[in-house]
Amino acid sequence: MELPFAESWKIKMIEPLRKSTRAEREQWLEAAHNNVFMLKAEQVYIDCLTDSGTGAMSDRQWSEMMLGDESYAGATSFFKFESTVQRIFGFKYVIPTHQGRAAENVLFSYLVKQGHVIPGNAHFDTTKGHIESRHASAIDVTIDEAKDTQLEIPFKGNVSLEKLEKVLSENQGNVPFMVLTVTNNTVGGQPVSMQNIRETAELCHKYGVPVVMDSARFAENAYFIKTREEGYADKTIKEIAKEMYSYVDAMTMSAKKDGLVNMGGFIATNREDWYEGAKLFCIPFEGFLTYGGLNGRDLNALAVGLDENTEFEMLETRIHQVQYLASKLDEYGIPYQRPVGGHALFIDADKVLCNVPIKEFPAQTLTCELYLEAGIRGCEIGYILADRDPVTRENRFGGMDLLRLCIPRRVYTDNHMNVIAAALKNVYDRRNEITHGVAIEWEAPLMRHFTVKLKRLG
Ligand code: F0G
Repeated sequence: MELPFAESWKIKMIEPLRKSTRAEREQWLEAAHNNVFMLKAEQVYIDCLTDSGTGAMSDRQWSEMMLGDESYAGATSFFKFESTVQRIFGFKYVIPTHQGRAAENVLFSYLVKQGHVIPGNAHFDTTKGHIESRHASAIDVTIDEAKDTQLEIPFKGNVSLEKLEKVLSENQGNVPFMVLTVTNNTVGGQPVSMQNIRETAELCHKYGVPVVMDSARFAENAYFIKTREEGYADKTIKEIAKEMYSYVDAMTMSAKKDGLVNMGGFIATNREDWYEGAKLFCIPFEGFLTYGGLNGRDLNALAVGLDENTEFEMLETRIHQVQYLASKLDEYGIPYQRPVGGHALFIDADKVLCNVPIKEFPAQTLTCELYLEAGIRGCEIGYILADRDPVTRENRFGGMDLLRLCIPRRVYTDNHMNVIAAALKNVYDRRNEITHGVAIEWEAPLMRHFTVKLKRLG
């Protein structure tokens, strides 16, 4: 008999979970104004809000924490971290930052000027925020197929070379760089193929435009290249990562995802001019160049995390769990962005809560229903997140309306996946009875998602 699949690690330390009653959850959600960001974490049973900074570190990472060198300048921890980044990504210059958006802030402070145009395959919110707050524009050049949630293609995070070339040719001299996000979080943790990375970089370079890789989930992307793209099956994850970065000019990294740490980030590049330029912003924003907002112990843990998470077994365990949850949803017929991506399931709320009018925010309603059902916290990636049009102040109902269920790394077991799937099925089974959604009572002018106050209708 063939042995079944199992995790490539065992558990050494546990954290108790608290279950709650539906009556408690109703009270808590109302007090949180139907916004799950306002809940206390202890009111949550299984937390799928994000995979960012929520992973479990290994015994080797924790033991490296004890060896942290907390010297202000020149700490051994920095050199351990720097040499790991140099070895894995092939970049010479490395600047640590406290998280991914801080890396964007430091690098973009040097590179982005008013009126610039920066194409990308669905820029993450903070990336877009750092571009728009500098009065530049972020243009999405993701392939159109990414919007069709039921279409199964292996690299749904890819860049449309046609769309990219249009932006590059129409804005010559005004594009400081292009952002290539791997995996493409916004469209469902969908990977970008090696061929697309190479062709995107070639096209950009033809126009003299450098490429910055937004690398939060680079290792998951490498796993998909290995398992889906012809010619990569026999290569190691580290070989694939090295090739991915050989085509691009720099990276910004949120190490809270594929770095397997709870806090951390960095910038890396081979361009001396960018390094010199970014350095000037690192010191006032993040701190001296050998710590960049991080403790020495954090840098040590990150060095180990990057090494561990570029090993095939670690990634296989992770992606297997995400795919296991997706297979349960297939069994129950619940629609999600297909094929499932690396870090999360994105449930297609418009297709589930068909009786909730669009202007009553179906994905947010589904987020609330899942929390009420079983204390599971997901996150709306839909019409509330989309904010209002800055000019017309109308809600933007044009995009996708999804409930994102992120799976933290090395935290939950497949039994927890069974609970998530069963809770979703229970909501799905009574979907036709859910006819009312939510209405906005108060919202911030920008990034309302985190603090919005909502009223449940009906
Ligand atoms: N880039 C991508 C692709 C991200 O997904 C994130 C964060 C960032 C940059 C910013 O990094 O959080 O370390 O400052 N994504 C988280 C999420 C918050 O939930 O998807 P950060």
